[in-house]
Amino acid sequence: MTDFPASPTVILTGAASPRGIGRASAHYLAERGWNIGIIDLDADAAKRVAEEIATEHGVQAAGAGADVSDEAQVRAAFDELEGQLPQLVALVNLAGISSPVPYLEVTADEWNRVLDINLSGVHYATRRAVESMVKNGVGRVVSMSSVSAQRGGGTYSKTPYSAAKAGIIGFSRSVARELGLAGITVNVVAPGPIDTDIMGGTLTEERKEKMAADGVLPRIGTPRDIAAAIAYLISEDAGYVTGQTLNVNGGLYMQ
Ligand SMILES: NC(=O)c1ccc[n+]([C@@H]2O[C@H](COP(=O)([O-])OP(=O)(O)OC[C@H]3O[C@@H](n4cnc5c(N)ncnc54)[C@H](O)[C@@H]3O)[C@@H](O)[C@H]2O)c1
Repeated sequence: MTDFPASPTVILTGAASPRGIGRASAHYLAERGWNIGIIDLDADAAKRVAEEIATEHGVQAAGAGADVSDEAQVRAAFDELEGQLPQLVALVNLAGISSPVPYLEVTADEWNRVLDINLSGVHYATRRAVESMVKNGVGRVVSMSSVSAQRGGGTYSKTPYSAAKAGIIGFSRSVARELGLAGITVNVVAPGPIDTDIMGGTLTEERKEKMAADGVLPRIGTPRDIAAAIAYLISEDAGYVTGQTLNVNGGLYMQ
């Protein structure tokens, strides 16, 4: 196994939305010395966030556009970012969409749209990232599942979302097993409800209270709660942690 380079890069998918977990995590990681690559649907938005990060934190940062459900676009975005940034050490899969459709109303198109972005997208980005990590002898992959996978919905999104997010856990354990010898760890963060705009727009205080009601802690989560979990799992010091799911959910689900 190889040591971390002095100046590592992390690529985050889905990190361009203004109030999302991804952008907050990119800032949090840049503050801790990571160079940042951002992949999101809108190339201009990804580049804007990268510029903002480079200016604020004095690290190298670059953005690229890709729909994560399109493997060719994902591979092109990685090529573009790796050409501009220091050694890729970590990938954080955050790109995702919600799906509040009741099961009896789920069409084939809705099913495929959610699985293509939320599960196949994680596979495409991971597959491309670990090709570089295997060559380097060191790597970290972290992907976002959800308490919705563990409790069977119950937050905002329903069945296709839960299925995709549960798939991420099995996917990550299997890749972790295959790539451990290559120096790569693969883990999952399963957030409870987090105060972003993914659940049909900005949450009202009333919705936040309802979402927190089932938990042990008297609040929903913040993007920073998730950023801190990601920072740990991609750190050099987390090298003995792999195939795990870290639940950051205020006690909504205990395992
Ligand atoms: N907010 C929550 O309560 C919560 C809870 C559990 C898990 N998650 C997961 O965390 C991740 C981040 O969610 P968020 O709350 O920050 O929401 P968000 O909507 O702010 O972020 C999602 C990001 O993914 C991008 N994206 C969507 N489709 C894409 C595609 N096809 N290709 C590339 N990028 C795409 C969006 O542009 C956006 O930047 C998601 O995977 C979500 O499912 C969120």
